[in-house]
Amino acid sequence: MAEPMLKAIVGSENIKFEKVWTNKELKLGGKTIQFLSTPNLHWPETMSSYIVEDRVLFSGDVFGSHYFDSRVFNDLVGDFSYAFQYYYEHIMRPFKSDVIAALKLYEKLAIDMILPLHGPLLRKNPKSYLKLYETWSQKTKRFDEKEVVSIFYVTSYKNTKQMAEYILDGLESHENLVANIYDVTALEEQNILSILEESKGVLVGMPTINADAPKPIWDLLSCMMLLEKKGKIAACFGSYGWSGEALNMIHNRLKDLRFRVPLEPLKIKLIPTKAEKLECYNFGITFGEIVNGKMMEMSL
Ligand SMILES: Cc1cc2nc3c(=O)[nH]c(=O)nc-3n(C[C@H](O)[C@H](O)[C@H](O)COP(=O)(O)O)c2cc1C
Repeated sequence: MAEPMLKAIVGSENIKFEKVWTNKELKLGGKTIQFLSTPNLHWPETMSSYIVEDRVLFSGDVFGSHYFDSRVFNDLVGDFSYAFQYYYEHIMRPFKSDVIAALKLYEKLAIDMILPLHGPLLRKNPKSYLKLYETWSQKTKRFDEKEVVSIFYVTSYKNTKQMAEYILDGLESHENLVANIYDVTALEEQNILSILEESKGVLVGMPTINADAPKPIWDLLSCMMLLEKKGKIAACFGSYGWSGEALNMIHNRLKDLRFRVPLEPLKIKLIPTKAEKLECYNFGITFGEIVNGKMMEMSL
């Protein structure tokens, strides 16, 4: 991937390449450069390199921050910890698994200084920055071994809310699941991110308003670009009046975001009837079974 990209940037096909990968070394100007493949941090082909003789790690975007201070070194500049964390949250967080893989490579190195592409050069306690990345990339499970399913809904006349509550009952029939339910309009973005991150299953409910999904639902889904989607399962549901466009839009958006979306949207016209409430309950049961790995979508 890097080769065509470099050719496009330079505007020439006439370039000689020597391909490198993890553990490949190059001797140049009396120095030994070791290469480390650190993909997705934050371009697909990203690499880091390490100069053996100087114990210097060129980490690329990893350990970067959008922070400028002409004193350059981390022990001379002002407090940039907020910028360091902000950069992690917005650039690295969607690729936590890749961060953990990169840290495994870095940990083997004796490092005197880290030179990221952005922000201060890290010569004081360079390994402390590895520790910070490690802490932020931990995938903690707050509920022992239980999987978490979170329902996010928006409602105007409580029709979708009713659906959400019956779906919740269905989910709660699974003892080994933790089910959450949230009115999206009452949540702050930081809270949404933490909830989404710990949820293996995500259910999104909304009415159709003017042939679209309400803005808080689009805002909720836009948060997903800051998170890792690997292994997450999603579905959507909602009440509608006559056309119900929001459901297919959100269903497709969830797929585009690379969730696994095994169920068709559950659409209910206006106020759920008794039979439709049961349908919602069963939807919750089925979704819970999929999250628990007991039912694959192929068998549905
Ligand atoms: C301003 C407004 C616009 C609406 N536009 C649509 C629409 O385009 N298509 C549709 O199927 N229903 C439409 N509806 C109907 C709602 O989707 C329906 O009342 C639904 O049951 C509301 O669910 P809720 O109580 O969860 O908000 C509209 C309702 C309102 C108030």
